[in-house]
Amino acid sequence: MTNFSELDRFLKNNRQNQLDELFELLRIPSLSADPSFGDSLQKAADFLSQKFESMGLKTQQLGTNGPPLVYAETPPVSDGPVVLVYGHYDVQPPDPLDLWQSPPFAPEVRGGKIYARGATDDKGQMMTHVLALEAVLNTSQKLPLQIKFLIEGQEESGSEVLEAELPKLGDQLACDVLVISDSSQYSKGQPAITYGLRGIAYFELHVQGPSADLHSGVFGGAVVNPAFALCNMITAMKNADGRIQLPGFYDSVVDLEPSERRAWQSLNFDEKSFASQIGVESTHGETGYSTLERRWGRPSFDVHGLTSGYQGEGGKTVLPAKASAKISFRLVPNQSPEKVAEQLREFVSQNTPAGVKAKIVDLHGGLGVVVDPNSKYMKAAMQAVEDGFGKTPVMIREGGSIPIVAQMVQLLKCDAILLGWGLDDDGAHSPNEKFALEDFYRGIKSSSRLWHYLAAP
Ligand code: BES
Ligand code: ZN
Repeated sequence: MTNFSELDRFLKNNRQNQLDELFELLRIPSLSADPSFGDSLQKAADFLSQKFESMGLKTQQLGTNGPPLVYAETPPVSDGPVVLVYGHYDVQPPDPLDLWQSPPFAPEVRGGKIYARGATDDKGQMMTHVLALEAVLNTSQKLPLQIKFLIEGQEESGSEVLEAELPKLGDQLACDVLVISDSSQYSKGQPAITYGLRGIAYFELHVQGPSADLHSGVFGGAVVNPAFALCNMITAMKNADGRIQLPGFYDSVVDLEPSERRAWQSLNFDEKSFASQIGVESTHGETGYSTLERRWGRPSFDVHGLTSGYQGEGGKTVLPAKASAKISFRLVPNQSPEKVAEQLREFVSQNTPAGVKAKIVDLHGGLGVVVDPNSKYMKAAMQAVEDGFGKTPVMIREGGSIPIVAQMVQLLKCDAILLGWGLDDDGAHSPNEKFALEDFYRGIKSSSRLWHYLAAP
């Protein structure tokens, strides 16, 4: 039985330093969606490189044509396993800015919560592993395994650099188990281990009508309005039962196993509090499936942005020349984003009325993933989570996507453990993103023990 008291003492005494370090990273506006933030992405990468170097890890920045991958490793340990920790230092755009109570890149603690863009997704969660390792290296205990870190700067916008580098990195990244903290607990007070993520296929759909905006009195009623054409097409993509209407869309969808449905049933999901937490009166989705099933185990289709015509104050009687939408499909394992792109093209070509032209732009995509919930390392992970959070975790899948995970698991032939320290209401991608201080510290504690448990699974 390992004695963790020295480690726990170090963690307790260093809480302020740990928070200061996270704050430093949170101050960097490292959004990957907008190329003009390249310098900030580099700054965030440099922050991490310096941190790893200060901890004595062999550190490198890898990749070209975009924000670098930060790679760092501890020395190999003979007869110990190799763990690869993946995370991301990029964040989503903070818009709409006027809804933030404090500026997104000026982190502050209010009511026991850290507020900043990236607080939970993923700077706060990712840093728990860095800071936990730092703690272990500062005690007299020997690190019983080799830890490799791979922290990228484009997770929120398609992982292009990592996707290009990955095939060359098979040997360098070789590992027994991949550890990722970029998801959530099941609920407040109920930690979870995630064994599945959905994939995604993201597009822009552009509809072009007349060559210029027209007077709607002179021309209205006589030509197709591109905004209508776009909206009709979008509406037709889902039927009244919430089934996606792209041709062949469900062909490769594997039905949920009755045993998995039963296991999720026993999680006693609280429908009412879920709805009230997000400010809606009722939930909605594909007929025949529960809310958890719809979120974790079924595909979905969403519109993220719609643009057409006049958006300013007051009225303008314009018949817009064009309309566009940002849309995506969440996919379950076995569905491929490339296939979905073909199906969308077919659907759009069949549903574009004469008088307008439609164009589809592929933004990015990624496969869903389900890993073995009973893998060799899962018990060790459960023990680590229980030590940190004081409660046995439940096994869940999640609806969000970490597009590169499926490729990494496939290439590295490794197990994967997703340890989400966040909460669904942390406001990831939304204004006032937060991460509870207690979850930050519990995550660090869990991670600090994880290494020991993984070494003797
Ligand atoms: N951390 C999330 C993924 C996530 C969210 C996993 C919630 C589990 C639960 C990640 O940073 C993310 O948001 N990914 C994007 C990927 C997309 C932009 C390609 C997503 O899911 O929208
Ligand atoms: Zn994330």
